[in-house]
Amino acid sequence: MITIEEDKNLKAFNTFGIAATARYFCCISSVEQLVELQQQDIYQTERHLILGGGSNVLFCSDFNGLVVYCNLKGISTVRENDETITLAVAAGEVWHHLVLHCVKNNWGGIENLSLIPGTTGAAPIQNIGAYGVEVKDVIDSVTCIDLVSGEQHVFNNEQCKFGYRESVFKHEWKEKYFISSVTLTLTKKNHRINTQYGAIGDTLQQMNVLVPTIQSVSEAVMQIRSSKLPDPSVIGNAGSFFKNPSIAIAHYNTLQKNYPTIPNYPSVNQEVKVPAGWLIEQCGWKGKRFGEVGVHARQALVLVNYGNGKGEEIFSLASKIIESVKEKFNITLTPEVNIIAQ
Ligand code: FAD
Ligand code: EPU
Repeated sequence: MITIEEDKNLKAFNTFGIAATARYFCCISSVEQLVELQQQDIYQTERHLILGGGSNVLFCSDFNGLVVYCNLKGISTVRENDETITLAVAAGEVWHHLVLHCVKNNWGGIENLSLIPGTTGAAPIQNIGAYGVEVKDVIDSVTCIDLVSGEQHVFNNEQCKFGYRESVFKHEWKEKYFISSVTLTLTKKNHRINTQYGAIGDTLQQMNVLVPTIQSVSEAVMQIRSSKLPDPSVIGNAGSFFKNPSIAIAHYNTLQKNYPTIPNYPSVNQEVKVPAGWLIEQCGWKGKRFGEVGVHARQALVLVNYGNGKGEEIFSLASKIIESVKEKFNITLTPEVNIIAQ
């Protein structure tokens, strides 16, 4: 039996801590409950927003529709052999809890994605990534429910069209499906330990780890993240507000003449990736506070809400940052965060 609440305050349901109101709100704990919801008049007439951990959304106004809160739980083994294990994980499972569960069982592949907030169901949407690993590296398939017909579909890794902070769910299939579970394959031995990302190696050294394991990599990643990213339970934020832009090599070479220290990372299609945090810092935004909102002092890519900020204020700050980066570097930043407006 589902309950549809009215005028629900969403402050506790988004990591920015924005006090937006949802006209209707329904918590879904099974596929059957979603099917039940789909038969309600409110579902037929109202606009929907699926919400997981709310760690990648910015509410710029109240949401005058139906928020469907994903609370599906359960982790089951699909198949297993000496080398690998394949898990089906319900969409509402907290991603970091899944990582800890896998690390504890010595199942490798997602330890570099430790401490990323949010749910497992949202992980494929922007192909979450950190410290040299993306979730696409372990995803077998994504199970979805069509938001109109209620039909179930299973899409394989290729069909999801994963890219850097990208998938088909952000484009052709935007708001078309409710992701109900994600199937991923992890290693049980011969783990591919990934310490490429500079800071991991340094941190492991400080931890006196000579032979890294998935457990020690997970700990190192948690240490690094805690040292620079604000904890949303203390200061509202949604992680990186913008994506790191890719620019043409010729453009990069021109910038390098004026800014010899401009960092770069490999990208695709004859382009290089430039850290947006560096661009924003160079424009003088790092650590700046404007009333209740601001730019984090240790990571310029993270916009923050000190407590009573409004979504519009964060949005307006983001727009000014985009403008100044465009003016100084001729680079257009794109938000990573999903902007919810109505
Ligand atoms: P939500 O914010 O609830 O939703 C995000 C989008 O997905 C919305 O459009 C929503 O409608 C849709 N959605 C959610 N669940 C479903 C579903 N079941 N079916 C269909 N659509 C759905 N991201 C990274 O990639 N790497 C990082 O290192 C990283 N670090 C972060 C650090 C901090 C401190 C914070 C706050 C965020 C960080 N993020 C990072 C961003 C965020 O954690 C991820 O994007 C995460 O996957 C969002 O999950 P969520 O459940 O909170 O999604
Ligand atoms: N930098 C600055 N100033 C800053 C911040 C960064 O100059 O204030 C420069 C430095 O040169 C630094 C480089 O940017 O070496 C990279 O910084 P960092 O390692 O912190 O990573 P990032 O590029 O800012 C990305 C992801 C993060 C992910 C980390 C680790 C994006 C948009 N962000 O951040 O993901 O955790 O790498 O892999 O790709 C998220 O998506 O929400 C997120 C937090």
